[in-house]
Amino acid sequence: MSNKTDIVIFGGTGDLSERKLIPALFRAHQAGSLQTECRIIITARQANDLENYFDKLGSKLESYLSGEDVFSQEVWESFKARIVTLLLDVSCDDEQWQELANILDAESDHHRVYYLAIPPGVFSVCCRLLSEHGLCNENSRVVVEKPLGYDEASAESINEDIAQFFPENNIYRIDHYLGKETVQNLLALRFANQIFAQLWDGRAIDHVQISISETVGLEGRVSFYDEVGALRDMVQNHLLQLLCLVAMEPPNKLDANSIRSEKIKVLEALRPILPEDMGQQTVRGQYVAGEQSGEMVPGYLEELNGGSETETFVALKCFIDNWRWSEVPFYLRTGKRLKQRCAEIIIQFKTIPHRVYEESAGNIDPNRLVIRLQEEELIQLTITSKNMQSMGVELEPVTLNLNYNKPHGDAYMRLLMDAVKGDPALFIHRDEVRSAWRWIDPIINSWAEKKQSPHLYRAGSWGPEAANELIRRDGRIWFNAGENQ
Ligand code: BG6
Repeated sequence: MSNKTDIVIFGGTGDLSERKLIPALFRAHQAGSLQTECRIIITARQANDLENYFDKLGSKLESYLSGEDVFSQEVWESFKARIVTLLLDVSCDDEQWQELANILDAESDHHRVYYLAIPPGVFSVCCRLLSEHGLCNENSRVVVEKPLGYDEASAESINEDIAQFFPENNIYRIDHYLGKETVQNLLALRFANQIFAQLWDGRAIDHVQISISETVGLEGRVSFYDEVGALRDMVQNHLLQLLCLVAMEPPNKLDANSIRSEKIKVLEALRPILPEDMGQQTVRGQYVAGEQSGEMVPGYLEELNGGSETETFVALKCFIDNWRWSEVPFYLRTGKRLKQRCAEIIIQFKTIPHRVYEESAGNIDPNRLVIRLQEEELIQLTITSKNMQSMGVELEPVTLNLNYNKPHGDAYMRLLMDAVKGDPALFIHRDEVRSAWRWIDPIINSWAEKKQSPHLYRAGSWGPEAANELIRRDGRIWFNAGENQ
């Protein structure tokens, strides 16, 4: 059970809040994870956003809840009773700030979680005004979303601004991938099983693939996405975080400091991709119109309604320069409008050192461990087995399949509840943000200097041919969910 906490969502009527935060809080409320006294304060900049607020919210909430959730009138009524709405233009009106202070001070023993679902350009003023109105204390936490900044310098500047008013321990930088239960399960797989611990390095592992493929396109986030692109939107945060969890050394304990410091070591060990290797180790792509699940969908430029060189797909080959991993390639890949929605990690083991079977016994494929985070949640280990129906020596691949069957939990709910409890273990430390940008920035700069247009790929495919080429050059292939695994 949480502490008595007031959760203030700045930008509470925006897209993030309505799609993710409110449904997550609704689930937490329904599950009894929020103390009865917890209040949710929704701030909006414009009065018309608050007109008929609950009617609009009710119907949106119903549409954002998934099949697993139940939307009952009774729960909705009790959830509504927690919500206080407030007109507040973060950057100007002092009277409105005073009103927020009055609301919060009325329950001065409550902890406070301030969720900044507002543009980063106003983070600084928001934190300053919170402080000036006496609303920051040791039990006040501020939550901010990725991508934090646009590059290392802008991220540092945002972090510096927030740090003037909140100590690092009270700054919760969200990467919602860390709230996914299967991502937590990856830690359990690694650090609660002796069998994998012995095999988790370049002596046994040939390579690692981490892919997040999406079927959605721009989803109305046109101008945001076009300025950001797939490398900043997905790789700088989600993919690098997954890479860290796969590659990090066992932490001494499972607390925030121990986990973060191991992740930072991985980020700092990422071998920079040199300008002359960009063509071999990176691919950027952009989708054109194509068929997805039987329907024609428009290309990126049509969705954007303009010209753009922004990438909607990235494939990278990278290395981690440390004792455990230095010769093991990590292939990362993500893109919009791909064939299937899937996020997965593939650990491809090496081939056996010596074959004792005759050729006629069949192939001996290397072992492969698949950790799929979505859509299905599963762990699969492919091994070679004797065909038990055959009297002779016939080998065949068999898959040990641990399928969790239905999706587990809501990443935002998990992370919001951690913020309410004051547990920062699944949030990103400032140094992680810095190290991740430090590795990403040269890639962006090099792409910009070379002015290389993105490779085009059809919506509904697995990305541009150049991405297949990137891995094929090394004598390997991408493993695509449901196709060749
Ligand atoms: C967000 C990105 O962080 O993650 C989006 O900004 C992306 O562009 C989303 O669609 C993917 O998250 P998930 O959980 O649906 O894989």
